[in-house]
Amino acid sequence: MTAEPKLLEPVSPEEASVFSRLQLDTLPRHIAIIMDGNGRWARQKSFGERIEGHRAGTESVRAATRTAAQLRLQALTLYAFSTENWARPKREVTALMSLLESFLIKEIPELMDNNVRLVASGRLDELPASARNKLSHTMSVTAGNDGLVLNLALSYGGRQEIVDACRSLMQRAQSGEIRPEDLTTDAFAQALYQPGLPEPELLVRTSGEQRVSNFLLWQIAYTEFVYLPVLWPDFRRIHFLDALEAYQNRERRFGGVEPVRR
Ligand code: FPP
Repeated sequence: MTAEPKLLEPVSPEEASVFSRLQLDTLPRHIAIIMDGNGRWARQKSFGERIEGHRAGTESVRAATRTAAQLRLQALTLYAFSTENWARPKREVTALMSLLESFLIKEIPELMDNNVRLVASGRLDELPASARNKLSHTMSVTAGNDGLVLNLALSYGGRQEIVDACRSLMQRAQSGEIRPEDLTTDAFAQALYQPGLPEPELLVRTSGEQRVSNFLLWQIAYTEFVYLPVLWPDFRRIHFLDALEAYQNRERRFGGVEPVRR
């Protein structure tokens, strides 16, 4: 097991100002991020290839993971590759898989230093074998870390996750292990890809787009959404802190009348 990373220390007056307004005891336990805007970033910078935006976006993945670990959050889920992304040009898909593979290997020391455990959600059997192998390797190397859980959504679709959960429940019903009347919302949630994680209290989407795009459809029933104008490759710690402040200014009532803290 690795030691806890140091608690976040603001490095600029802007960060210090936002940080001072955060209540550290009511931060979300789980944040999910739709990392959007890589292609636009590449175009703005006049790069010929969208992949340059994805490459730059891996630096933002590192910044977000380190920030979440240093804030002692329980989980960070990043939408890295959707079931719909397979329809992108083959060249882009191949480049994304190769970026993922090099991230999975190069990032091990950083994950260990920050006590981060890597897990993944999605139809992982659809990934190329080389990516699956590196994913299993990094997951097993980090399995003993007990700090932040970094959950990479890969070949992930929210509808597909619900269908996969239904399939496994139907198989268990067919074998007599469970009865239809045993099915509750809690029992259903246990059949999802990561039953051990709390539902995300906060969903962030970068690039200014305001859509859910088939992400965590079951888990976001009561999630707060924060949309940031920043393009993903420019996302840094200050944007993470801005999202947390926006979240903490919300009143969450879960359909009741009294505000619920957290
Ligand atoms: C959406 O931007 C982003 C993706 C589909 C891929 C996200 C991948 C990364 C951030 C890099 C690799 C990830 C890991 C975990 C190593 P877009 O391409 O749709 O942007 P656009 O809407 O501006 O075109």
